[in-house]
Formats: sequence, C-alpha cells, structure tokens
Amino acid sequence: MLFVNATQVVTCAGPPRARVGAEMQDCGVLTKAAVAVNGERIESVGSRAALERAHEDATIIDCGGGVLTPGLVDSHTHAIFGRARYEEQERRAAGADYMEIARQGGGIHASVRDLRARDADELLALARPRLERLASYGTTTVEVKSGYGLSVEDELKILRVIRRLTEELTMRIVPTWLGAHEIPKEARATAATRASYVKMLREEMLPLVTNEHLAIFADVFCEPGVFTIEETRELLTAARVAGLKLKLHADELAPSGGAELAAELLATSADHLAAISAGGIRALASSGTVATLLPGTMLFLGKGTRPPARALLDAGAAVALATDFNPGTSPTPNLPFILTLGVSELHMSVAETVLAATVNGAAALGLANETGQLAPGFSADLALFEIEDIRELPYWYADRRCKRTWVRGKACHSSDLPIT
Ligand code: NIG
Ligand code: FE
Repeated sequence: MLFVNATQVVTCAGPPRARVGAEMQDCGVLTKAAVAVNGERIESVGSRAALERAHEDATIIDCGGGVLTPGLVDSHTHAIFGRARYEEQERRAAGADYMEIARQGGGIHASVRDLRARDADELLALARPRLERLASYGTTTVEVKSGYGLSVEDELKILRVIRRLTEELTMRIVPTWLGAHEIPKEARATAATRASYVKMLREEMLPLVTNEHLAIFADVFCEPGVFTIEETRELLTAARVAGLKLKLHADELAPSGGAELAAELLATSADHLAAISAGGIRALASSGTVATLLPGTMLFLGKGTRPPARALLDAGAAVALATDFNPGTSPTPNLPFILTLGVSELHMSVAETVLAATVNGAAALGLANETGQLAPGFSADLALFEIEDIRELPYWYADRRCKRTWVRGKACHSSDLPIT
C-alpha cells in the first residue's frame, strides 16, 4: 500500500525509546511525503514522487489532503466495566469528594459489585463498542486493565475477556492485571483481613494470571487510603519475579512516594502524578520510568490540580498522555481531547503532546520499537485525520477528526462505518 496525498505526514521518527527534553520539540512533520507499507510493516517514508516510482504496483490510499500520523497509543485504560457511574458526577458537583464517595461504598466498589454480577459474554459485549469508540478517535494501541473484579474468579474473568477482545478486534491491546485496584469491601474490616487480601493477590491470583499468560503488566493503585507504599512494593516485586512488567497508579490525589517507588522498582511507567512531589519528579527524571499523565481525570473530578507536565518535561522526564478511560474518573474515549488538555492546561507544545501519545505511549507499554512512529520496520499502525495541520488536532477540541486507522497494515477504524 502507498499512502499519498496527505498535506502532512507526521512521522514521530527517531530512536525507538521514550523521547525526553529537546527531542520532544520535533514530531517530524513532512510535506509532499508518502508512506509505503508492505504487509504488516512500514517499508519506507519519503517523497511521494520517489515512492510512486519505486512502488508502481502498490495499492494507492488517497489521504485526501488530511494529516497522516502514527496510530495513537492510549497507554492507560480501565475499559472492562459494567454500568456507567454518572450519578457520582452530580454528587461531586454538590460537594462530595471522590474518596468520600468510595468510603461510602461508591466509586470502584460500586463498579466491583456491578461487574461481579455479569458474565464474561456480557462484559465482552459492553467492552467491544467502547474500544471501537476509542479507535474512532485515532487510537490503534490500547492498554486495558482488570481491576473491577477483586476476587480470583472475577479478575480472571476480566482478563479472559481482554484476551478475547485481543483476538476479535484489529486494535493492538496490551493487558494489565490490576487485582490491587482497591481493597474489596469484604477485606476492609481489620488489618488481618486486609493483609490476607494482599497475600491472596500475591500467592494465589498472581500465579494464575501468569500461568495463563493473561497479562503483560501488573499495576497497583498506590494511594493513601488504598494500597500503601509497602504493600505496593511487596506486590510489584512479586509480579516482577513472576515475569510481569510494572506500572503504578502513583501520587494521584496525595503525594505518598509513589513516583519514587516506581523509579526504585524500575517500573515501565508511573501514572497520574497530579500530586507528585519535587523528589518524585527528580526520581522519574533520573530513571527510565515513563511519567504517564491523565489530565482528563482531574478535569472530570472537578479538581483544581493538574499533573505538573512542564516541571516533569523540564526536568528531563519522559512524559506520556493517556485517557484513563474508566467509569468513575474519566469516561472519555477521546485521546486527541487529552492532547487539548496537554496544550491548553499543561502548557505542553503540540509536538510534545503528539509524541506523548505516540512514541512515549508506546514506551509506556514496552512497545517503543514496535509502534508509535512512521519509520521503516515499524508496525504499519497509522491514523488519518481530517485536518491540514497537526496543530489542528488539539485545536478542534473534543471533536472527532479521525477518518481512518490501520493496525499492522490492516484497516481498523473507518468513519464511514458504524460502531457496532
Ligand atoms: O485511574 N485511581 C484509580 N483508578 C481509576 C479510577 C477508577 C474508578 O473510579 O472507577 C483511575 O482514576
Ligand atoms: Fe487509572
């Protein structure tokens, strides 16, 4: 296939690792360029005239004057859940706090009660169109966490649903085990029941997850009132020994040393970070851990705080942006809208946001040598937007400008097709 007639081809080309510092200022905008794809891989990116001569028999994909980018990478979602939790939005508007709602049995607990009552087929039927919606905004790689089961049976049920989605959908899906998303209500009674939940996660659930190869990553909600630093260290150390890569929900609402722990454990990413400390910023900047920012969450919760993107970028940390798509704190499938928040609220440049949702999102999933850039040898994961300049992607905010996407050279989303 030869992709031609794009006003801009945004390659994000460069080293196959997270970009930092000055590297974030150049997302590789080409004009009069074409992209040649052979099977599942990008073969070359170069001048249209030269590529047309070299590939006379290619199937031509006319980009219609739009902007062609690497498929977007949404490296943090909780896409497997049952019902929506719209009632909590109004409760917060009336003054209730997210953690207070959780203490009263709402929040994650409400989603857990709901999910446990549903079977796998039902969860699959709910998740499929949700992931197709994410795809319709330009996302071609998505991380999906478990975490609304909080029992062996229910967490495995979710991870097996994610596996089925991986087989059924064209998008690339990266599964994460988040059995430590909350201490379930039934384990909250005493210190002993709490400790036995952590022990069960480590000794019982984790081996079942890894024996069935159901996850690439392990994640823990490390936050005061949820899992402590010590519990998080214990769980993630065991997960690493079991062969999983590591992520943390860290310093989301209060600074507790989550970012420092992520750096210490050589985690692939530390996510949220709206309340990260100065020491946490230094720790991430001097580690290979990607700082994944989820500004949609703070916006939706009605919080005044925002993750300190500028401080992280200026310190030299690798920054990624993701939706955190979930029923409680960020029910948006729209990753380009998160780029808008990156520019308008986090003071990032457009190039920084684009790289944060492509190359650095891929790095946050351990996939920086596979996807996130339009360069020879990379997976043919592309997104075509109905804009003429990449700066329009965050500009037309909350709009859906994505026309088509391809994953591994195969058509994924098309705006001409309905979402099932
Ligand atoms: O990333 N912070 C923890 N987990 C999710 C929220 C989950 C929920 O409220 O359902 C998050 O924001
Ligand atoms: Fe999350």
